[in-house]
Amino acid sequence: MIYAVKFGGAFLILLNINLKLILVVFLFLPFMAAYTVFFSGRLRAALKRNKEHIAGVNVQVEDSLAGIRVVKAFANDELEKAKFAAENDRFLESRKAGYKTEALFFNGMTAFTQLVTAAVVVAGGAGIANASLDLADLLVFLLYIGSLMEPIQKFTHISSQYQEGFAGFERFMEIVELEPDIQDSPQAVELEEVCGSIEFKRVGFRYNENRAYVLEDISLDVKCGEKIALVGTSGVGKTTLCSLISRFYEVSEGQILLGGIDIREIRLQSLRRSVGIVQQDVYLFSGSVIENIRYGKPGASREAVIAAAVKANAHDFIMDLPQGYDTEIGQRGVKLSGGQKQRLSIARVFLKDPPILILDEATSALDYESEKAVQEALEVLAKDRTTFIIAHRLSTIRGVDRIVVLGDHGIEEQGTHTGLLAAGCMYARLYQSQYGDPVTSGETDRFGKKQVI
Ligand SMILES: Nc1ncnc2c1ncn2[C@@H]1O[C@H](COP(=O)(O)OP(=O)(O)OP(=O)(O)O)[C@@H](O)[C@H]1O
Ligand SMILES: [Mg+2]
Repeated sequence: MIYAVKFGGAFLILLNINLKLILVVFLFLPFMAAYTVFFSGRLRAALKRNKEHIAGVNVQVEDSLAGIRVVKAFANDELEKAKFAAENDRFLESRKAGYKTEALFFNGMTAFTQLVTAAVVVAGGAGIANASLDLADLLVFLLYIGSLMEPIQKFTHISSQYQEGFAGFERFMEIVELEPDIQDSPQAVELEEVCGSIEFKRVGFRYNENRAYVLEDISLDVKCGEKIALVGTSGVGKTTLCSLISRFYEVSEGQILLGGIDIREIRLQSLRRSVGIVQQDVYLFSGSVIENIRYGKPGASREAVIAAAVKANAHDFIMDLPQGYDTEIGQRGVKLSGGQKQRLSIARVFLKDPPILILDEATSALDYESEKAVQEALEVLAKDRTTFIIAHRLSTIRGVDRIVVLGDHGIEEQGTHTGLLAAGCMYARLYQSQYGDPVTSGETDRFGKKQVI
């Protein structure tokens, strides 16, 4: 406002002094405007690149620090430093380019204002020479030219600040406007009573349109409370299949029904509240033990948390920690052992108490004794719940209702442990490779291997 008034006032005074001289000034204005528009665009692009590159530096730092144990274990400090330096150099280069554009912009505008003054002096000198202007008018004119040019220079400054803000805002909006792949449909319903029957109807899934199908033509009918074990070689798609139930990914073909309703028609919150997962790669948050268990059911009482920990066979080790349940476990639980982390994640699901349970290698990080204890706890937990169990050690799934063997082209076979062994196909081969000939094998030892009798 101030500069607009200043510009208008100076313009009127100058107009009163001499019309020809003001025309000289206005001759420059289109060039100045074009210059401003051109450099504003370049400045904005440079600032945007800067922000992208600083994001690159941040990603690099975060990645190196998050993987600090791997970096140290491989003694690759120098490699990480080199990676950081490369990212940092890119940022430096873009910053240099940004400053160069800024310098050209400001100094170009300053040069223009000086040129205007010089042109007025020349034109004014000519006016005095042919007596159409007197010296006093020229001097006043030159004094007011400053007042006319100052707003223009200020405008350049403001415009660069604006560009900086705008570049940041644009990047912010790019992220805010990202649409999540998976959202509630407008007609999505809330689940009321969930008994947990799940039906896969000719489900096909691939992670990306350009990649091969991970799951093909899967049809599986799971009744309420049934215990299903998923078996198959590593990478065959067991975890993927379970992720589809919680709708972490959308099926590519076919549909999944929960209690007869397509899961795409169920509110995500409601669906995910019904499914409890103990994941293969446990994720804990920094904070205390109790906060991490309570994550399963925010607002649960301390007693409920402890009861869940007892069931997950975690209570004893938690009590041995320096501050018991209030011990800080560090970022991602670095202060705990693999097995301890796993038991916390099991306690979390005990507390959540969902009707559907997915146990993805839930006891893989436990020793034989704890595994047995947790296994018993999980059996209690799984009672009356639909349960999917993924286990590599086949001895742990003998008691389930149905074993589903996944192969490269979908479900290879399914049945009970004894039924599948008798069939002598893929499951029998898998079992044999782990425990030897099932007919002659005796008790297995603590590593799940056949004991030599
Ligand atoms: N997020 C992802 N994006 C792309 N491909 C993926 C992703 N996760 C898994 N895959 C691929 O999908 C296939 C199945 O992976 P999945 O994790 O389901 O295997 P799995 O049967 O659980 O194996 P494991 O027994 O080793 O845990 C693999 O070939 C894997 O490379
Ligand atoms: Mg897996």
